Amino acid sequence: MKGKNIILGVSGGIAAYKTPQIVRLLKKAGANVRVALTASAGRFVSELSLATVSGEAVCREMFPPADIPGTDFTRHISLGEWADALVIAPATANTLARLAAGLCDDMLSACFITLRPGKPVLIFPAMDGQMYRSASVQRNVATLAAGGCTVFEPESGDLASGQCGTGRMADPGIIANRIGAALQAARPDSLLAGLQVVVTAGPTREKIDGVRFVSNYSSGKMGFAVARAARERGADVRLITGPVHLETPEGVERIDVESACQMHDAAKPFYPICAVFIAAAAVADYRPEMPYEGKLKKNEHQMQLLLVRNPDIIAEFGAQKRTGQLAVGFALETSEGLAYAHRKLDEKHLDLVAFNTYDRKTSGFEVDTNSLTLIDRNHRETSLPPMQKTDAARMLLDHVEQLIAAAGNGETER
Ligand code: CTP
Repeated sequence: MKGKNIILGVSGGIAAYKTPQIVRLLKKAGANVRVALTASAGRFVSELSLATVSGEAVCREMFPPADIPGTDFTRHISLGEWADALVIAPATANTLARLAAGLCDDMLSACFITLRPGKPVLIFPAMDGQMYRSASVQRNVATLAAGGCTVFEPESGDLASGQCGTGRMADPGIIANRIGAALQAARPDSLLAGLQVVVTAGPTREKIDGVRFVSNYSSGKMGFAVARAARERGADVRLITGPVHLETPEGVERIDVESACQMHDAAKPFYPICAVFIAAAAVADYRPEMPYEGKLKKNEHQMQLLLVRNPDIIAEFGAQKRTGQLAVGFALETSEGLAYAHRKLDEKHLDLVAFNTYDRKTSGFEVDTNSLTLIDRNHRETSLPPMQKTDAARMLLDHVEQLIAAAGNGETER
């Protein structure tokens, strides 16, 4: 964190009283901190405390008085350009809505809009649990997450309302650690910077007839998180995705496909030119042999669907890859599947496989978290605890970078 410029945006919730402590921890770690306070935040925490611990004047007004010498009249732009990271803690329902809508009527929202692309935005919502679960707050959280912000679930515990539940802001120590991790992930000296990375994501749909298909529950969240994290590290990212309801990460080139054969056709031109191929898609292994033109009509008690094998994209890339190219696959199993993951690593000539179990609560397709076990080409396992898919994606890329570094040191290929 040493020498990094961080803007702490504070909005008006009771958790704002903890923010001087966040500033102290960031300053102690060597960061430069500027605080942007919303009008209502000033009712929960004193501007003087924040100015004292940060050593800088607190920014509140978009329109500073014109008669103060030395005033930076365009600081609503310059502050966003100065920052290496923007942290919003606590983020109230109102602030989430204003940011999601693109409003820009105070210093906090101006910093959000003028922050340079690729710089991490960490949002720590804190409010009453029922408010947090409301449809509008959840919609705004989803919009901000789709726009590349990292939104952290509030913690559970005692709330200001006297109730106990979800809604508390994390402790300042935890927030400071998360900021440190995000800044490290965004470091410009990443070994992925400038490399061509291909990521497959989402499910595929295999046509039965004109109106029906065979598919799976993949949401595409993990693949999109990987693509975003690779872009944050300066990679040149192509994201080949099946049908999903997710926004394209900023700076990523997206190629939409429907079936496994289309995904295969879209991926093939990149085999010779990419440095890293990460297959996060849940590709259907089979497709109906002869999709029916138009709509199939029912007539019998039973019907038989003949399925034929689809091309295995990552296995094909793995078999063709040149020295220095890396193949990364996923292995999803519903139960004891670690042994299968080790086998997949060898059979598909992978350099890294991310094994994940499928419980639909903390790990798997539709949820925002994942528990991965990473297995490298020497069959070394690293078990990661359940974490947000955005964090899991970064850990995965840390391992990819280790493999790139090992190749650079002339360590043997498998
Ligand atoms: N994969 C692929 N092309 C396919 C099938 C899978 O690129 N046609 C990739 C996936 O993106 C993932 C990995 O291979 O990275 C998963 O391997 P797969 O053998 O499909 O796993 P499972 O279906 O889970 O294994 P199995 O069918 O053996 O249970």
